[in-house]
Formats: sequence, structure tokens, C-alpha cells
Amino acid sequence: MEYKTKLNVIAMDGPAASGKSTIGYMLAQELGFLFLDTGCMYRATTLAALLQGVDVADETAVTALSRAIHMDIKPPADEGDGRQYTTLLEGRDVTWDLRSPDVDTHVSLVSSYVGVREEMVRRQREFGLRGQVVMVGRDIGTVVLPDAPLKLYITASAEERARRRWVDRQEQGHANSYDAILADVQRRDEFDSNRQHSPLRPADDAIIIDTTDRSALQIMQDIMAMV
Ligand code: DC
Repeated sequence: MEYKTKLNVIAMDGPAASGKSTIGYMLAQELGFLFLDTGCMYRATTLAALLQGVDVADETAVTALSRAIHMDIKPPADEGDGRQYTTLLEGRDVTWDLRSPDVDTHVSLVSSYVGVREEMVRRQREFGLRGQVVMVGRDIGTVVLPDAPLKLYITASAEERARRRWVDRQEQGHANSYDAILADVQRRDEFDSNRQHSPLRPADDAIIIDTTDRSALQIMQDIMAMV
């Protein structure tokens, strides 16, 4: 179809648990594109530091680690566990390890390091060059793919985002309370929006979509109409 040839990359940004992964994944399925959730790259770097005993507060060490590690993101094979993609760290499947509360706690700090960001952006642009990708993150429209022909900024209230994350965590067997998750969402919003390098914000030409009271299906219909 014509839209497939014209629209080669879609940039999608928004705060934690705004629904951008769900919608990005559905959109990628619909278009036959790769779904690249760039948050998993910052998470994989964080997990690597935790596993290797690298102090996450040591910017120099974490930056060096981010350049050295081998990671890959692939469409899922046949795992049947509801995953949207598979993340490999040094060849090992760490897809679910990336969702642990320990990674949640430290990933904002790791993703605030300029050297780590440069390395992840370099890797993300390589995926962008291959085309046919829906890339989801915080700075895709502003920094990674500023020339993307379609940029979407997906948002929702902090309470609704915390509620969604709480449901996800329950399903994954982590017993965090709603209040703790809401506090974490608010802390990360604050941190991600105010960090010095590539803070979370919509690109000037992004279309803003609020998902608070709307289903993923309704939103998909709107986006397909734009596509
Ligand atoms: O989307 P997520 O919760 O998996 O993202 C994890 C962290 O990575 C989050 O604190 C923000 C950061 N991140 C970022 O800074 N830039 C991106 N493109 C994606 C994620």
C-alpha cells in the first residue's frame, strides 16, 4: 500500500505508562514494521550495571559499560508469554528481567548520563536507517529521528498511568503498591522532564494524543486515519 512506502519511520514519545508501547506495538503490527521500544535499551544498560556490580552512580563507569555491552532487540519468536519483542543482553534473553523494580528504580539515573544517551542514540539511528520501524521513547521525535514524517506524543494523567503500571506489575508477579508506583511515576516524570540532556518533551511538529479516557483501539483508529 502507498502509505507503507511513504511512511518509513514513525516516532512516538511520551511519559512512562502513557500507552505508547501498546499503541506503538499495535501500529507496528498493522504496518508490518519493527517495533523498537528504546526504553529497553536504557533498561538493558541499567541491568548490565546491576549484574556486573558497576555502581550506577558512577557516570564514567556506566558510560564505558554502555559502549561495551552487546544488546539486540528482535521480534519475538514463539515464546507465548505476551512479550512484544525480545531483548538480548550478551546473547541472553533478558526481556522480563528488564521490568524488575530494581531496574525501574535506577534506569532514570542511567538514562540521564550524556555519554549513555549518545551511545543509545547512535544504536537507535542504525535501526532508523533500516526503515520500517515504529520507534518509541522520550526523545525520538526531538533527537533520534528529528526528520521522521510522523511524530506522535502519547500522554495520560499520572494517576491513570500508575494504575496501568500497577496492573502490569501484578500480572508480572511483582507486589508493588499502587501508591508506591504512583510516587515512582511522578518521580520519573519529574526527573525525565527536567534532566539536562534530551528532556522529555513533544517535538514542535508532534501530534499530541491523550489516552486517559480512551481505549487503545479508539486511538489506533485515529492514528490509522492520520497515516
Ligand atoms: O519507557 P521505559 O519506562 O521503559 O523507559 C525507561 C527509562 O529510560 C525512563 O526513565 C526514561 C528513559 N528513556 C529515555 O530517556 N529515552 C528514551 N528514548 C527511552 C527511555
